[in-house]
Amino acid sequence: MTEHVTVPWVRSRKRRQGAEPLVMITAYDEPFARLVDAAGVDLILVGDTLAELVLGYEDTLSVGVEQMVHHIGAVARARPHALVIGDLPWMSYHTEVFEAVRNAAKLVRAGAGAVKLEGGRRRLPVVRAILDAEIPVMAHLGLTPQSVHAMGGYKVQGRQVSAAEELVGDASALAEAGCFAIVLEGVPDVLAERITAEVDVPTIGIGAGSGCDGQVLVLHDVLGLSKGIAPKFVRRYADLATIVTAAVSQYAAEVRSGAFPSDTESYHGSSELREALTVPS
Ligand code: KIV
Repeated sequence: MTEHVTVPWVRSRKRRQGAEPLVMITAYDEPFARLVDAAGVDLILVGDTLAELVLGYEDTLSVGVEQMVHHIGAVARARPHALVIGDLPWMSYHTEVFEAVRNAAKLVRAGAGAVKLEGGRRRLPVVRAILDAEIPVMAHLGLTPQSVHAMGGYKVQGRQVSAAEELVGDASALAEAGCFAIVLEGVPDVLAERITAEVDVPTIGIGAGSGCDGQVLVLHDVLGLSKGIAPKFVRRYADLATIVTAAVSQYAAEVRSGAFPSDTESYHGSSELREALTVPS
């Protein structure tokens, strides 16, 4: 393993060439970036799921470039060994190519080593322009949450042969354009396997089966911190919500009962200070 995970290193991690699966997870702040990095992940994605998981919005459409910059900065200040990927939010790369490059540069200046954007062949002009600015691009295909309204909900994509073939074509075009990795979200496992076989850059799956070159999950799902019913592809490795509520309940009870703070948890003044400050009875 190199000192820091680099884009060329990630780009070379095809399982068919004997590489171990890539591990990517999201993080949105310095403490969690530090902890996931200590766990040895390869990539930290500062995803636009920031909107739902940290900022309390209903979907990812509500987050903007400045909020992404703020959180990418926090993650980068953890100085992770892992490669930090900054997610380009909705409408930051949909209007003008020039604007997209400027927004990608803002994420890099905040500390991202690469940017991720959603969509297939119709994003090629933007992808090429960002790559021309020497900013590595990770693609994201399949169930792309920024297209929730166009898709009519969060639905598995590529179930029909024609739609699956479209996605294979999109993946090949994005890889040929120079994207260094492709996230495949919410697609049948056979389609993810086909795309993984087709392209020479790693695929990173989320709800795309076990045939990809790597996997990504959302940190708050993994830790049991997200609300609502998790999709079937989520595996919860901890129940931090229960631990946090129990800990804070105990703190609240001990403040109310006077058990916190104790004598040893307090600073003490000299006897002179105590004498001077004691309220006369
Ligand atoms: O924003 C995000 O967290 C993502 C992952 C679900 C891949 O794009």
